[in-house]
Amino acid sequence: MTAAETEKKLAAQAAVEYVRDGMIIGLGTGSTAAYAVLKIGERVKQGLSVTATSSSLATEQLARSVNIPLVDFCGVSRLDLTIDGADEIDPQLRAVKGGGGALFREKILAAASETMICIADSSKLAERLGKVKVPVEVLPFAAAFVEKSLADLCSRVVIRQLASGARFVTDQGNCIFDMFFDRPYDPQRLAAALKSIPGVIEHGLFLTEIDLLIVAQGEKVSIRKRPDAS
Ligand code: 5RP
Repeated sequence: MTAAETEKKLAAQAAVEYVRDGMIIGLGTGSTAAYAVLKIGERVKQGLSVTATSSSLATEQLARSVNIPLVDFCGVSRLDLTIDGADEIDPQLRAVKGGGGALFREKILAAASETMICIADSSKLAERLGKVKVPVEVLPFAAAFVEKSLADLCSRVVIRQLASGARFVTDQGNCIFDMFFDRPYDPQRLAAALKSIPGVIEHGLFLTEIDLLIVAQGEKVSIRKRPDAS
């Protein structure tokens, strides 16, 4: 296992210690979140009683494979806890997510959660957001119009494609545009600008959702609380 994979696994395992009997939990998407799903599966096998809901079809499949009891989120109004990864996170626990294309459902689960734990390997830490692309989920009907609007806000905008060259399609049937930046941006201003574009379904900036960051650096796991969180 690479050093980064070990860090992901350590962070995920530390987060799963927050899961208690009777909780309804949100499951994130991506390689770090997958370690948490597998660990929850182990604990379910040992007798933990939880119900979970998934942020993507891929995670749903993984959760089923380890027998985590699942519920459809459409009938759920609140979650006790969500555990999810990130692509980049700053000291105020503002993050960029959506590298796996699940940002829309991930944001809904995060908003519904009493506590949102972000788990990360040390490569995800950033003093300022700006190094990684910001994904934006877009209604295909508005693709060309939104692409032009996004281009005014960043250095380069690219529609996400699969290795085959086919357009990436989200679990909701939408497309993803990835915005690239030459320099750090103002996250609040960018988020507000993105929200004002008709046809943008959701963006990958998570500026207030994350309560706790669990990050592994080598063998050391540290826990950081959002500075303004109660
Ligand atoms: C998926 C996400 C992931 O949490 C994010 O891309 C991090 O992925 P990984 O844990 O594989 O590095 O937001 O939409």
